[in-house]
Amino acid sequence: MKIGVLTGGGDCPGLNAVIRAVVRKAERHYGDEVLGFHNGWRGLVENQFEPLTVEDLRGTLPRGGTVIGTSRTNPFLLEGGADLVFETIEKNGVDAVISIGGEGTLSCTLEFHKRGLNVIGVPKTIDNDIACTERTFGFDTAVTIATEAIDRLHTTAESHDRIMVAEVMGRHVGHIATWAGIAGGATRILVPEEPFDIDEVCASLTRRHKAGRFASIVVVAEGAKPVAGTMPQPEDTFDEFGHIRLGGIGDRVANEIEKRTGYETRVTVLGHVQRGGTPTAFDRVLSTRYGLGAIDAVHNGEYGSMVALRSEEIITVPLTDAVADLKGITPELWEAAKQFFA
Ligand code: F6P
Repeated sequence: MKIGVLTGGGDCPGLNAVIRAVVRKAERHYGDEVLGFHNGWRGLVENQFEPLTVEDLRGTLPRGGTVIGTSRTNPFLLEGGADLVFETIEKNGVDAVISIGGEGTLSCTLEFHKRGLNVIGVPKTIDNDIACTERTFGFDTAVTIATEAIDRLHTTAESHDRIMVAEVMGRHVGHIATWAGIAGGATRILVPEEPFDIDEVCASLTRRHKAGRFASIVVVAEGAKPVAGTMPQPEDTFDEFGHIRLGGIGDRVANEIEKRTGYETRVTVLGHVQRGGTPTAFDRVLSTRYGLGAIDAVHNGEYGSMVALRSEEIITVPLTDAVADLKGITPELWEAAKQFFA
């Protein structure tokens, strides 16, 4: 068979490990040919690709980013974009496409499936917000990086008796914030799923600091929102792909905390550091298993499905279910986090 592979959306540690595993089993086990389409779905719109062999991918397992590039291009938003994708598929004799991406890329993948393209999805995102799978690859790496940063913030916060606000990624959900917050012993965690009351946050921080010399760490997911009307919040703006523009909640929270409590407060925005660099061992293994699962799914003809992790097993689930809703943090996890709030 001739298999196309693409990586779409934001990059993520483990992308190369997925590609490597797909190519390994495709070439060595099934005798397939693999084409790596450049920059997500844009590569199929523009007929841009390169053949990928086991030899080409040597040394890529621990490498962050993606060797075939990525973009947020959605062919359905381009004039004639979807037709160009089908032309590319036909011209190059591609039998199936493995699409590695997050919510946006996978929704687009599902749409192509509905129009007759043979596709398999692989759930990627440091945010861990894809439904029907217990983990997306990249999440473990992001949590590890964020936790290490919080550990470092503790010692500087303690030396100055300051409040430190750490802003982490998490556009719609607070998985990174909650996991890194619990692992790093945060005083407070603010997530998109639970609008926060800044007065209550400040009152609890004040109580804690009055009780002694206790520096505090507040972890804020970039998509966290205050309860309406409780603190200044700018109007939402959107990028060309219709995604809400985020950033700045850490600064706004830090300003409000300093203003309302009088305690010196600093902010650290971890940003893309969480997405760059080498994947953890967990993510390398998960990505490898997803890649192997995806090429097997192609050969089993399970088109329109996504590989997923369920009870330690790699399974396939319908893409329709996977993209129906985003997966937020569970009430049990949030309760666990709250036990350690000031
Ligand atoms: O989707 C993953 C993610 O890391 C989000 O948490 C974040 O909002 C977004 O990507 C930022 O991506 P970029 O800066 O590449 O647009």
